[in-house]
Amino acid sequence: MKPLRIAVLGAGMIGRRHIQTILALPEVAELAAVADPVANPAQFQLGGAAWFTDAQAMLDSVQPEAVIIATPNDLHARQGQLCCDLGIHFLVEKPVTASLEEAGALVRAVEQSGVKTLVGHHRRYLAAVEQAKRVIDTGALGALVAASVMWATRKPDDYFLADWRTKAGGGPLLINAIHEIDLLRYLCGEIRLVSGLQSHAMRGFAVEDSAAALFQFDNGCLGTLTLTDAGLSPWTIEQGSEENSNFPHTGQNAYRLAGTKGSLELPVLRSWGPRIPGEIGWNKPLASTDLAPRYRDPYQAQLRHFQRLIRMDEAPVVSVLDGANTLAATLAVAQSSSQGRPCAPVRFTSG
Ligand SMILES: NC(=O)c1ccc[n+]([C@@H]2O[C@H](COP(=O)([O-])OP(=O)(O)OC[C@H]3O[C@@H](n4cnc5c(N)ncnc54)[C@H](O)[C@@H]3O)[C@@H](O)[C@H]2O)c1
Repeated sequence: MKPLRIAVLGAGMIGRRHIQTILALPEVAELAAVADPVANPAQFQLGGAAWFTDAQAMLDSVQPEAVIIATPNDLHARQGQLCCDLGIHFLVEKPVTASLEEAGALVRAVEQSGVKTLVGHHRRYLAAVEQAKRVIDTGALGALVAASVMWATRKPDDYFLADWRTKAGGGPLLINAIHEIDLLRYLCGEIRLVSGLQSHAMRGFAVEDSAAALFQFDNGCLGTLTLTDAGLSPWTIEQGSEENSNFPHTGQNAYRLAGTKGSLELPVLRSWGPRIPGEIGWNKPLASTDLAPRYRDPYQAQLRHFQRLIRMDEAPVVSVLDGANTLAATLAVAQSSSQGRPCAPVRFTSG
């Protein structure tokens, strides 16, 4: 399969990870160019790719067939629209856009232009998540009834030297919880109703440092998410899954999903079911099975999928439409918290 000719917009923290991923997989993609108005290209490997300080000038000059948008959230809508206008396929980092209005407009622009899109919810490519989805889809757990997710870690004090991280939109809800809510949608189904609470009691910034949410899914399953970036614990999917060497591995599970016939813990992946097949009940013995998948770099798996999406017409794992619905469910947590009542997330549909 021919490698994709890709350009990257934004060479900050995650843009550099995408650049490294492209350079590591020459059979999948060739890095044609990078555009960033501020970053210093002498500080990292570019593999001979052209460097631009202006995104539009780069797209006009290089005409890549695909782009990775790794710029601040408030640029995603504009740069996604530009790709639609130019007929360039794109992978946009999460959140798909900064607001629901922008998300709706981008969903329409993508449909009208026919370009292929992905949103960077890279956790969906974790081997453990793919395997969990397969287990659920086979019906081995029965009907899903309850899901419980914990994301608790303590970000270092110097993380907050960047002023935007102390203001609305820069907190763990849009930065971290959005990944968990995306996985809950993927594993448990579409979210119908959300109740949320937020707190900034630990740091006193305008932005939340903690949040808790209750979810009702279309299929009747109920879920909870407890989130804090001010509490030290081994329970985040990052620490449990080895997805990123910046987060030392704890090997602890952070998700518990319960079905009528069995249950599953993630990301170490342990399933629970009756020890004696068919003997189901709280007074019957349970047995656990460790399904431990082999580690796989989710960013590399995402890029390989991006190539197949464009070259082989594979269905997108997370389209702009899907990313818009994850954004809607995430923003519903904040809306419910500020309004003091449950909130039904906006539901984006195609067509
Ligand atoms: N998938 C993930 O796990 C993950 C992780 C981190 C960040 N993100 C997302 O990626 C995006 C970037 O986050 P980050 O942490 O890398 O931020 P960052 O601030 O480190 O990097 C953003 C870069 O974009 C550049 N930029 C600004 N305006 C630009 C323009 N007009 N054209 C091109 N480049 C421009 C900046 O100079 C900067 O270098 C955000 O949307 C964030 O939510 C995703």
